[in-house]
Parts: sequence; C-alpha cells; structure tokens
Amino acid sequence: MNLSVENISFTYPGGAEALRGVTLDIASGEAVAIVGENGAGKTTLVKHLNGLLKPTRGRVIVGEWDTREHTVAKMAARVGFVFQNPDDQIIERTVGDEVAFGPRQLGQSAPDALANATAALEMVELAAESGTHPYDLTAPQRKLMTLASVLAMRTPVVIFDEPTMGQDARGVALIGNIIETLKSEDRTVIIITHDIDFCADHFERVVAMADGRVLADGPAADVLAQADLLATTNVEPPQLIRLAQALGLPGAPLSTDGFIASLRRRDGTR
Ligand SMILES: Nc1ncnc2c1ncn2[C@@H]1O[C@H](COP(=O)(O)OP(=O)(O)O)[C@@H](O)[C@H]1O
Ligand SMILES: [Mg+2]
Repeated sequence: MNLSVENISFTYPGGAEALRGVTLDIASGEAVAIVGENGAGKTTLVKHLNGLLKPTRGRVIVGEWDTREHTVAKMAARVGFVFQNPDDQIIERTVGDEVAFGPRQLGQSAPDALANATAALEMVELAAESGTHPYDLTAPQRKLMTLASVLAMRTPVVIFDEPTMGQDARGVALIGNIIETLKSEDRTVIIITHDIDFCADHFERVVAMADGRVLADGPAADVLAQADLLATTNVEPPQLIRLAQALGLPGAPLSTDGFIASLRRRDGTR
C-alpha cells in the first residue's frame, strides 16, 4: 500500500501553519524514520497519514484512497498509529480487552481478535498482564501495550510516534525487534524519533523536518551524515558517524561492521 503526501499544508484552528508544503512518497514495505526538533510538524504530518487530520491544502493518498473521502474508522484498517502518549488511546479495563479492541472494531471475530491480541501481547512481553487494568501497568509498559493494540490490528502500515521514549534498554531492544519483524513481513513502518542511534539501527530512509517542511529525505547514511543540516533541526548524527567523521574515515557507517569496514578502507587493509 503506497502513501502519497502531495504538497500539503496544514493550519490548526486559530494556530500557526504547522505544515508548509510537504511532499512525501512512501512505497509499500518501506521503513522510514522522521526526525527533527520539537514543533517541526512531525506528529501533525503522521496524523495526516491515517486521516486524523485532513490537509488544509494538497492531498494525502493512502493506497488509492484520498483521506478526505474516508472516515478515520475506515482508515484504521490500513494505517495503525501508536500515539506518543499512550493515555490518549486507552479505552478498556483490562490489557487483554484493550489490545483486542482494535481488531474487534475492524470486524474480526472474537476468537480472531483474541488470537491477534495474544500474539501482539507476546511480542511486547506482556502476555502475563492480560487481566491487569491498563492503569496498573507502569508507564513504559502502557506504551508497549498501546503498541500491541496496533500490532494486533495487523494493518499494512504502522506508525509509531516516539516509541522508545521512556523505555529502558530492554524496552528499546524489544521495540527494535518488533520493527524488524514488521519489516520482514513487508509492512510499511514509519517512526518519529529523537533516538538517532535507534533510527540508524533500523531505518533505511530518513526524513528530516524543520518548521513544517521537509529539509532532507533520503538513505539514512546520506541524511544522517549531514551534520550541518541536522544541526539546523537540533538533531545530532549517530555516534558512529560522528566518530567516523572525527577520524576522517570514508563513508558514513551506520553499524559497527560498517565502521570497521571504513577503518579498513582508510588503512588499506581488508
Ligand atoms: N492541537 C494543536 N493545536 C494547535 N497547534 C498545535 C496543535 N498540535 C501541534 N500544534 C502546533 O503545530 C506545530 C507542529 O507541532 P507537532 O506536529 O506536534 O510537531 P512535532 O511532532 O514535530 O514536535 C507546533 O508549532 C505546535 O505548537
Ligand atoms: Mg510530536
């Protein structure tokens, strides 16, 4: 399912222009990270991808559907969205019911919804908390639960707004594994993150935003190596790229293996 954002602008009622002419095409199965400082318009942009917001100008097409012509409920079958703040999307009284809610809304039978919810809770290692009240989970667990809610809907497109924020190393690794699983299933994964090393680890394409516009859009190694451009949006390149640049190594390594390869290339060894 391809996504096409065609020169959209968006102004909040009574507010400033949050998007100023954004164009973005995302092909089915791509993994894209959106970076940029607070207020850049990242959340506003992704809320257009599931129809929560409609563009003031321009249009958004989600697999042939113009978001202005379809309800948010219909869009939810195509685009799953995990909010930055989990408490914005909690409805039910137990973790199990909460995670099964989305699939039920999409019309899945009770047994199917339960099976998808159970599998999703296993992915976030919360299967044992199925009977717990969502508000009795810790805040990072609650965030993982909302992630499971969206996974359980098995949408072709999944969007995460700042998923690693507040997670410990184990939680971050868990989310990294989930993203890799989604990628291996050829689902489209879009993330907003301030965690540039996480972005370098899991995303092939990076979009840098500032002031309601896209500043750069391309392969992660290209965009994340542009220290000057990233500085204008308050983002620092990944640690490995900074280290490679400080050492004058060729290329922009995103992984330890890539870093070692650059080092060897500079030293003329193999
Ligand atoms: N509900 C809202 N009402 C009015 N203005 C908003 C609202 N949400 C965001 N904004 C404004 O829109 C701009 C972009 O915000 P946002 O998309 O949340 O940025 P980001 O996710 O990159 O931090 C900011 O200037 C912000 O203050
Ligand atoms: Mg945001």
